Amino acid sequence: MSFSSLLRATPRLAARAAPLQAARQSARRSYASAAPAPKAGGNGGLLFGLLGVGVVGGGLYLYARPDSDDARTVKDAASTKEVDYQKVYNAIAESLEDEKYDDGSYGPVLVRLAWHCSGTYDKNTGNGGSNGATMRFAPEANHGANAGLEHARNHLEKIKQKFPEITYSDLWTLAGVCAIQEAGGPYIPWRAGRKDGDVDNCTPDGRLPDGDKGADHIRNIFYRMGMDDKEIVALSGAHALGRCHADRSGFDGPWQYSPTTFSNEYYRLLYDDKWQERKWQGPPQFENKSDKSLMMLRTDMALTTDKEFRKYSQKYAKDEQAFFSDFSKAFSKLIHLGVPTTQLSEAVPLKKTEDQAPATA
Ligand code: HEM
Repeated sequence: MSFSSLLRATPRLAARAAPLQAARQSARRSYASAAPAPKAGGNGGLLFGLLGVGVVGGGLYLYARPDSDDARTVKDAASTKEVDYQKVYNAIAESLEDEKYDDGSYGPVLVRLAWHCSGTYDKNTGNGGSNGATMRFAPEANHGANAGLEHARNHLEKIKQKFPEITYSDLWTLAGVCAIQEAGGPYIPWRAGRKDGDVDNCTPDGRLPDGDKGADHIRNIFYRMGMDDKEIVALSGAHALGRCHADRSGFDGPWQYSPTTFSNEYYRLLYDDKWQERKWQGPPQFENKSDKSLMMLRTDMALTTDKEFRKYSQKYAKDEQAFFSDFSKAFSKLIHLGVPTTQLSEAVPLKKTEDQAPATA
């Protein structure tokens, strides 16, 4: 067994050995973070319905006037063929578990792909967002923040070959929904209709957050998308899933003890354990005092130190239902950012496999 596959197979060992590995690889990609200044009350936007679930997207009206010189224009036509999205969902669900990959599931990295393809949205210009699936192309695929997401894209390529009629942008967002729901998370309203763009639609680097910064940085990034403080804190709870990889972001380790289960444990740990700066040669991050096997980013810690953020993180630590409800709305909003309402279908019911009749599951 090679060193890296041994690390993957034994997460706890990975958490311990990674400083060495990180130092050796010195692989931290820089996350440019030149986000525009936040606008006062920056969660403005147009309201559109999602079968009763409010989804806010800014600047959507601009899509009514396509202009070939405008990065907002998505050039490829979406498939007109009918797609059985539940079948696609089930195929993804079936593909999630893999003992050889990370903590045994592709789910977390699929959630990160759905978030990174959507979180590029800029409400002021209307460009970016999940419409387009532009991370298929360099330069966006090579942006530091997207390091490691080729694992998710390559994994989903097999599903795309099975269901060629679904667009990549629908597939990536649906996969994020599937991964959250199958990990025990809440139902997430999802609508179909995203179109795949081309390389001209790639967004500039620096639109996604950098883990070694504080509350101001987080707000700059998320307010630009049209998100507010409650949504920022709720969305950050996705760090219940997965881990940091020294050879991707430079950070290292999981946030919680069961990184393939979606729960509010992330918030509970933020308050129930004690956190100290980890002394190592990698980028600044925190470790839990009790057994040093878990990590938090500076941005995670900001959810407890910033007064506004603290209100929500404390609430979610105590009340998982409140977290699930706010997360579902915020994640649904995230994965529809930048997609013109005129393109979108009604919400597509996507059942968890455990809730399907045995015949269809
Ligand atoms: C302040 C905001 C955020 C920062 C700074 C941040 C930063 C990071 C970093 C550094 C990683 C490790 C990547 C790697 O090394 O593989 C990561 C992983 C992850 N992030 Fe975030 N993130 C943020 C918000 C979010 C949001 C909003 C979501 C989803 C709603 C999310 C979902 C995930 C997931 C699921 C992983 C684990 C991926 C895996 O295990 O492969 N993050 N994040």
